[in-house]
Amino acid sequence: MDLGASLGVPSVQELARSLKDVPDRFIRPELELDIVSKDESVPVMDMSKLVGGRDDEEDELAKLHAACRDWGFFQVINHGVAEEVILKMKADVQEFFRLPLQEKMEYARLPDDIQRYSASHVVPRGRKQDWSDFLYIFPQPRDGRNLRFWPRVPISFRETLNQYSTEMEKLNTALLSFMARNLGLEPEKLQTLFEGGRQGVRTNYYPPCKQPNKVLGSSPHSDLAGLTLLTQVNEVQGLQIKRNGKWIPIDPIQDAFIVNVGEMIEIMSNGEYKSIEHRAVVNPEKERLSIATFHNPNSNAVIGPLPDIRGKDGKKQAPKYKSMPYLEYMTERLRQKKKVYDEEGKPENPAHQMKLHTEAA
Ligand code: OGA
Ligand code: NI
Repeated sequence: MDLGASLGVPSVQELARSLKDVPDRFIRPELELDIVSKDESVPVMDMSKLVGGRDDEEDELAKLHAACRDWGFFQVINHGVAEEVILKMKADVQEFFRLPLQEKMEYARLPDDIQRYSASHVVPRGRKQDWSDFLYIFPQPRDGRNLRFWPRVPISFRETLNQYSTEMEKLNTALLSFMARNLGLEPEKLQTLFEGGRQGVRTNYYPPCKQPNKVLGSSPHSDLAGLTLLTQVNEVQGLQIKRNGKWIPIDPIQDAFIVNVGEMIEIMSNGEYKSIEHRAVVNPEKERLSIATFHNPNSNAVIGPLPDIRGKDGKKQAPKYKSMPYLEYMTERLRQKKKVYDEEGKPENPAHQMKLHTEAA
């Protein structure tokens, strides 16, 4: 098997273990110029206030609306996901990454599927490699599962992922219904668009790095789909979001999920909600693990501004983005994504490239 011969190493985890110096293809001297600021922190939503008609429901809904508008990121507490499901998922993911490389490689990429265990992407020329490995699986829709990529060890992994995935779908649906209300849509509108859509679970493994300030675990990017629900597996921090030109670290609250608005929701909301650029940094001594769950609209959905969306002034606004069928959007988006970092090496939010140019004209 070709364990990534072009890279010389199949996994950053192995590399981190065996090498003293960090290879040049990971080193990003420009990180020195970045400003990291702890002056602000992402909003925290209490979901128990959003269910069951409490007095403070309206206030919490307003808070959620503001979080989606002004931040594109928030943490959610009292989300109703059973603690044991989360703990089990974290434990099984940790155990999976502890397996010998050879065993993990059983879940490596096949030619016709992007689900896989892998080192971070093989990078195009001029771009740096991320200091991370991952396992990427599509647990939903259920009838589209390919168990070929579902680890058999630890033995509980499959059942754990099954439960975790179901819980994430429920949480996603609940959040979408609150957002639809806030956006003045029919309560079921967003849910309907996402129902039966593909869910991706990406478990990220960031090895410790001797030069933590010179590498990134995850390059700046914005998430492509609807909502991302992220949980950090151990106590090691690393996620940062871009805000007013600075990087703001997220300090995860125990048992909370970190939620962010993906590009497709930015487009559906006609830009009322923002998909925010984020990245992950690494730790000098400790490994870091996270589990990100992405939710895509179903394949019948059209990705475009929803007609009932109103702007901040309560008035309907002209569409700021093109509309196109989901599959066409994905094709276009992935084509752009390849391009996005090439020019000047600067990342861009491709959702912005979908904007109609009438605004600027
Ligand atoms: C992602 C992501 C951040 C993290 O997987 O899309 O942004 O903290 N992960 O691992
Ligand atoms: Ni992300």
